[in-house]
Amino acid sequence: MTARIVALANQKGGVGKTTTAINLAASLALMEKMVLLVDFDPQGHSTTGLGFPKPDHRAGSYALMKGAPAEALTLSTEVPMLQVIPAGKDLAQLEFELFEMPQLQVLKQGLASAREKFDYILIDPPPSLGMITLNALSAADEVIVPMPCEFFALDGLAELTETLRRVQSGPNPGLQLGGILLTMAEERTNLGAAVAAEVRQAFPGKVFNTMIPRNIRLAEAPSHGKPVAFYDLKSKGAQAYLNLAKEWLGLEYAGEVR
Ligand SMILES: Nc1ncnc2c1ncn2[C@@H]1O[C@H](COP(=O)(O)OP(=O)(O)OP(=O)(O)O)[C@@H](O)[C@H]1O
Ligand SMILES: [Mg+2]
Repeated sequence: MTARIVALANQKGGVGKTTTAINLAASLALMEKMVLLVDFDPQGHSTTGLGFPKPDHRAGSYALMKGAPAEALTLSTEVPMLQVIPAGKDLAQLEFELFEMPQLQVLKQGLASAREKFDYILIDPPPSLGMITLNALSAADEVIVPMPCEFFALDGLAELTETLRRVQSGPNPGLQLGGILLTMAEERTNLGAAVAAEVRQAFPGKVFNTMIPRNIRLAEAPSHGKPVAFYDLKSKGAQAYLNLAKEWLGLEYAGEVR
């Protein structure tokens, strides 16, 4: 077993990184994959969204970055095959520490042993292109870019693709763009459809067919500490993330979600 490492990245805030991290991770786990979600954001939203308190000082992913073994930091979630390494605000301290002494491979090294125990490791970075995100991109095999179906969707994307190119020509030549995920899609508006068409035209073949609709259940589920599939399986949001997982796994998965 060698986990495929996936970073959900977009330096813009509030685009659906954390919602995608939690719900893609849970959907993959429901499809019988062993999944580790690494909360890599000082906001700790993946942590609280899965029902855990933000960790004590210098625990969670901060400790991982300081050499603590991943196995000692993982928490079991309500989803049997999903584990999480939590994060809290001390991770922000790390941004400064890594800035003073730039190191891009710390996360990759920290996840080396966990890689053998999971099928997938998803990383949820903060909304920036700082050292924390660069560590995530340096550790990843693949990046998925969540992008809301809004008028300014493509704004800032050039900056992100330039960052990906730099990571590819430097610390992580193998990094792939797994896909752009259209999030918060308003099904009934022309604007949403126009934005989706524009993004598909700008990135041919790189945009997932599955779009995540704007769905209140997706926004409510974190306050119950649950992935949406465990909060309201029949909701459009839950079904969309299950479809995304199926699309992403491709033909690899042929079973039923129970
Ligand atoms: N498809 C959706 N439908 C409705 N609400 C959504 C959807 N996706 C995300 N949200 C809500 O929008 C807000 C931002 O989403 P989320 O936290 O996933 O973004 P983010 O990119 O991780 O943000 P940050 O950059 O701050 O980490 C949250 O309140 C979330 O519950
Ligand atoms: Mg987030």
